Amino acid sequence: MAASFVDNGDTVCDVGCDHGKLSLYLVQRGKARQVIATDINSQPLQKAVDLFATHDLSHTATFLLTDGLQGIENTENITHVVIAGLGGHTMAQVIENAPFIKENRVQLVLLPAQSGYFVRRWLYENGFSINMEKTVTEKGKYYSCISAVYTGEVKQPDIYDMYIGESHTNTDSSAKGYFEMILSQLEKKHTGIMIDTGTADNGYADAVERIKQLINKL
Ligand SMILES: C[S@@+](CC[C@H](N)C(=O)[O-])C[C@H]1O[C@@H](n2cnc3c(N)ncnc32)[C@H](O)[C@@H]1O
Repeated sequence: MAASFVDNGDTVCDVGCDHGKLSLYLVQRGKARQVIATDINSQPLQKAVDLFATHDLSHTATFLLTDGLQGIENTENITHVVIAGLGGHTMAQVIENAPFIKENRVQLVLLPAQSGYFVRRWLYENGFSINMEKTVTEKGKYYSCISAVYTGEVKQPDIYDMYIGESHTNTDSSAKGYFEMILSQLEKKHTGIMIDTGTADNGYADAVERIKQLINKL
């Protein structure tokens, strides 16, 4: 899914590359001229190194044992940064620590494993615009892949923006599963708030209502 958001890439960074399959796919499909594959752990990174060697494509990749994008010296040709399978908090930290993403208006492709709301909030509050999202299902779980770029336009997101973002444009069965998952999370959070404070929270109540409408329209 994340790969479908990358087209005509020059250097594409794959953060948390693990086995390197996504990086390899990007090169093999001509979506990336070359990749910088990073991982914070040496064992997964070695798997990526071996995978590229097996396919005689080592010359198309640089492998970095690092936290996020730390230590990349030449950022000039980086067109895309893909971060798939990490949590929203880590993603926000990785982007924040790599100022070239803002400066060079690098295209971000983010597939949060959890806490998507956190990375959406961070993007909106830090001048990034979400161009598109695509919901996806894998092994019975639901995710939304986010495509975003820095525009300088800061937005104060409400609860709906944080939890749904641009995923509302999706209409397939993965969208239904995703919206239902988010609805259940928000209903639980709202119930918790009501128990704690004794009152309803308008922001949560409004988001819950809008997501119910979204589901009813499918
Ligand atoms: C669930 S795997 C994701 C695999 C791959 N991106 C995919 O979607 O198929 C998470 C990987 O991210 C790595 N990782 C976790 N935090 C990281 C960080 N801050 N910087 C780089 N890699 C990280 C882990 O070592 C692990 O290999």
